[in-house]
This record gives sequence, C-alpha cells and structure tokens, in this order.
Amino acid sequence: MKKHICIGVSGGIAAYKACDLVSQLSKKDYEIKVLMTKHATEFVAPLTFETLSHNHCYCDLFNPNIEDPIEHVELAKWADCFVIVPASANVIAKVVHGIADDFLTTTFLACHTKKMICPAMNVHMYENEVTQQNLKKAKELGYIVLEPDTGLLACNDVGKGKLPSVDAIVKAIDHLFIEDNTLKGKNVLITAGPTQEAIDPVRFISNHSSGKQGYAIAKAAKDMGANVTIISGPTQCEEINGVSIVSVKSAVEMFEAVKEHLEHSNYIIMAAAVADYRPEQISEQKIKKNDESMVIHMIKNPDILAYAGQHKKENQVICGFAMETENLEENAYKKLVSKNCDMLIANNLFTKGAGFKTDTNVVTLFKNNERIHLPKMTKEELGVKILKTLKEIEEGRKTC
Ligand code: PMT
Repeated sequence: MKKHICIGVSGGIAAYKACDLVSQLSKKDYEIKVLMTKHATEFVAPLTFETLSHNHCYCDLFNPNIEDPIEHVELAKWADCFVIVPASANVIAKVVHGIADDFLTTTFLACHTKKMICPAMNVHMYENEVTQQNLKKAKELGYIVLEPDTGLLACNDVGKGKLPSVDAIVKAIDHLFIEDNTLKGKNVLITAGPTQEAIDPVRFISNHSSGKQGYAIAKAAKDMGANVTIISGPTQCEEINGVSIVSVKSAVEMFEAVKEHLEHSNYIIMAAAVADYRPEQISEQKIKKNDESMVIHMIKNPDILAYAGQHKKENQVICGFAMETENLEENAYKKLVSKNCDMLIANNLFTKGAGFKTDTNVVTLFKNNERIHLPKMTKEELGVKILKTLKEIEEGRKTC
C-alpha cells in the first residue's frame, strides 16, 4: 500500500524546489497531498502542486468548496508522515509553540505521525538565537530537522540556510519508512499512567502521571517491530495504531491485568505510577461532610513490579522506573535489587524537563553495577534507549 505524505509548503523562495520534490515523490510509492501557507502561494501556484500530486492542494481553512469542515483533522489522520519543506523561520516558530492559524499549521498540530522539517531561510534569520531555540525545541518534540546546506543564498548572502538538494530530502523521507525489525517477534508489556484508588463513588486518590512516558515507550517498541501491550491507568493519551491497550483504574486491576499478560511477555517495562496504598473500605455512598476531620484507613497495594521480578523467566528482561524526590541513587539501587529488575530508570521530580506530564525526560539508567546519566531527551527517544539496552542485556545473557 502506498504511504501517505503531507507536504507543507511555507513562504520562501525555496518553495519552487518543493515542486520537484512532489514530482519525484509522486513517481515513487507515495501518495502526496500538499498544504500551503498563504505566503507560499505568492511563490508557487497551488495548481502546480495539484497537477504534480494529482490531489487537491490545501491552502484555506475556510474554503467553501471543501465539503468537510474538519478536513484538516481528516488529513492529519490520513498522513503517515508530515514534512514541511521549505520551513520558514515563521512556520517553525508556529509549529513548535502550537500556533495553529492556517491549514498547514492546524493540520500539523492535529497530526501525530512522523514529522520532519526542512528549514530554508536567510543565514541571519537561521542563526538568530530565537530560530535556533525553536529548532532545538523542534528536536525535543521529536521532529526530525533536516539541516540546511551552506552556500550562496537567494538574498546574495553566503551562509547556512539553503534547502538541501531534492535528492537528499527524498532520501531522508525514504529513511522515515525503513522498517525496523530490531524487536520483531518480541512481546513487550508496558504499564503506563496513574492508578486511581476509590474512596467512594465520586472520589479517588491518584497522582500526576499523564501516561506519556509509558505510551512513548510503546510507540518506540511498535516502531521497532514488537507486539506491544500497554496496561494503562486512566490517561488522555491517544491510542497508538497497532498497540493493544488494556484500560484499568486501580492498582489491583493493573496487577490482575499484568498477571494475565506476564507469561507471554519478553520485555516488561513498568512506567506506571502505581499507588502504594488504597483505602481499606470503599464507601458505597458519597461520604457526607459531617465531622471536622476524617480518617481513611489505607492498606498496601500489591507491588506489581516486585511480583514480575519474583516470577521472572529465562526469556524475560524487566525494567522498572523510580520517581524520586531525594536520594535518587540510593533508592534506585534498592529498587533494582529488591524488585529483581534487570534495569531501572530513575527520574527526579525536581529536575527541569523530567517526570510527570512533560514530553521530555532526564533520567539515570541503572543496571548491574553500572550507572549512566542520560541527557534530556524526548520520552520516545528514551523509549528507544531503554528497548535497545534491554536487547543488549538479553543478548549478553545468551552469550554467557
Ligand atoms: O506518565 P508521565 O506523566 O509521562 O510521567 C512518567 C513517570 C514519572 C510516571 C515515569 O517516568 C515514572 O517514573 N514511573 C514510576 C513512578 C513510580 O511510581 O515510581 P515508584 O518509585 O513509586 O515505583 C517504582 C517502580 O515500581 C515503578 O516501576 C512502578 O511502576 C512499580 N510499582 C510501584 C508500586 C506498586 N504497587 N507496584 C509497582 O509495580
């Protein structure tokens, strides 16, 4: 089946090169739909892209000729990848800050697939600290940034800012679709998100986990060819195509679901923030506000990771997480050993860019006697790192 590509064209002289790009991609196994900013249409006519792509070219959010008023959302779902070429300083600034004020930027924001941006602009605009910060942010968000070439620019300045050759862009797009079979045949089980421990029918005890870390690992595992199951507490995370999701609320429910899937799993990664305790009694009715104070008696929840560690089989590798606010190293080592994990990923709540709700994480990886401090990276990049390290551990075992 043909892969679907959205090509976003923003306003810059290099827009004319996007015509050749669309022409070349259309001749390959790709179906192309082009989205243009208003400024881009000053450089190239939409009709050129319509002719080259054999598809409608999208320019106007409120085009009365388009039947579907939420076409941008449909297009975002249709795309297997979204490439902005050329990406002006303006459009880069918009997409990294979530500004969605035209067809291109709205669709880009709604799109949750592979994204690539190909900056092309005047060297001084490119080197401006604001643009550099925006490009850094783009990388943190997981977008692939194709570095511009250096040379004589349209404005007669010489420097960095030239759109790479069309051949180089085609190659980079082809690379996005190369199948990764690193984990083919492996079953990966991931816990994600918070648990909710009911007090009465309207109240519960929970925590700040968004599920982003667990889902990002799942996405990475799926892209590496694994069969992936997430046991997920309540989150707002979007479903991932091809990944099974088992939804649970409480720690006890998560425990039961993990037990059910454990036996057939090869890689077990527990990124969920599981409540250690739950109310002993769940009131059947809403608790009334009668007294000045109230006491909820809590009892211990099962430790799911420790259970997996106790029942670990030869063909299983286990990775736990640790969220710490102090003595990160000491606590992480303790958990690595006491829960019989092969690896433990520790994050500190007080580190900027780490922990709950962020798109990035800053962690220390513990295995055997090794401790590796990792730089800030997206949660998906961390997912790739975790999975590759688990594979090394597994292969190391085989050669022992
Ligand atoms: O979901 P996000 O917003 O993206 O945030 C990510 C995260 C901060 C939740 C994640 O990176 C993380 O650190 N997850 C583990 C949080 C935690 O509860 O740590 P802990 O130190 O309490 O637990 C240690 C390990 O035991 C964890 O793997 C946990 O899943 C597991 N555990 C804990 C208690 C329990 N009863 N059962 C368990 O399996």
